Amino acid sequence: MKNVLVIYYSQSGQLKEIAQNISLPFVEDANVNVTYYNIQTKKDFPFPWNNDSFFDVFPETFKQIPTEIIPPDEAILQTKFDLILLHFQVWYLSPSIPINSFLKSEYAKIILNNVPVITVNGSRNMWAFAQEKVKVLLKNMNANLVGNIALTDRNINLVSVITIVDWMFHGKKRKAYGFLPLPGVSDQEIKDSSKFGEIILPFLKENNYKNLQKNLVANGAVEFRWFLISMDKKANKMFTIWSSLILKNPAKRKMLLKVFKGYLFAAIWVLSPIVHLIEYILYPIRYFNIRKQKEYFQGVN
Ligand SMILES: Cc1cc2nc3c(=O)[nH]c(=O)nc-3n(C[C@H](O)[C@H](O)[C@H](O)COP(=O)(O)O)c2cc1C
Repeated sequence: MKNVLVIYYSQSGQLKEIAQNISLPFVEDANVNVTYYNIQTKKDFPFPWNNDSFFDVFPETFKQIPTEIIPPDEAILQTKFDLILLHFQVWYLSPSIPINSFLKSEYAKIILNNVPVITVNGSRNMWAFAQEKVKVLLKNMNANLVGNIALTDRNINLVSVITIVDWMFHGKKRKAYGFLPLPGVSDQEIKDSSKFGEIILPFLKENNYKNLQKNLVANGAVEFRWFLISMDKKANKMFTIWSSLILKNPAKRKMLLKVFKGYLFAAIWVLSPIVHLIEYILYPIRYFNIRKQKEYFQGVN
């Protein structure tokens, strides 16, 4: 009998649905025992968001400051799992506060120690450096990262910005302005994600995850858009400056968050198209470098 722990946090239910679909082949297998763990924080985060709450979580999210979580069931802490599927969403280019808080908790130390972990993220599209941060947290907990699945909104970058904001602020996946595509990971991709469970199952049974990631990638598990890597990297540098500035000036927090909002708007609508254009022009020169990046970000090392 194999014991699998499926960890997730989800506000809209999208990641919960992904978690349920990926783990479906495990649930249907009589030799696998699946336990679900829904991370909950003592302080709740609102959904849908409003303007103030959405920007207010920025500094603590980006600086990866944990908040207290509700302890997982004793049964989870007492079980030695054969595999853990860790589903996380990205907030401000970082793991969301609930996920970061779990990964820094004393419970994670017990649950993750020396256990193979497959990360699954369901984000808009900028997940690459958040995954790097999760890798560090997993390493600190002595977990072994053996696979990664990154599910995203496959629409044009700027279109997905509009549609995700509409979703986050209204709470429902709907066609923004009546004609834009639905936000988030597509329904079809969510439904199809049970195929990843089928891919993982024989590796779980063998207890050997060599070549798992190659198999997952060959089946569309990791979307890679090269120009997003460059934007993610640049935005991380700017977010480091902004989050430090805001946290060092608590008295001016409200005002600084307003200025940050203006900066973010300009970065997305003015700077990002310019960066995108420059990246296109430089593409031939950077071809081999981009290929290397693709290999790296689609891997687990
Ligand atoms: C505060 C906040 C910040 C976010 N920042 C990012 C981001 O930097 N990159 C990204 O790809 N998605 C970002 N998203 C989208 C989330 O990763 C995720 O897709 C969405 O919140 C749905 O997840 P759920 O399962 O919790 O509902 C953000 C969402 C929120 C609420």
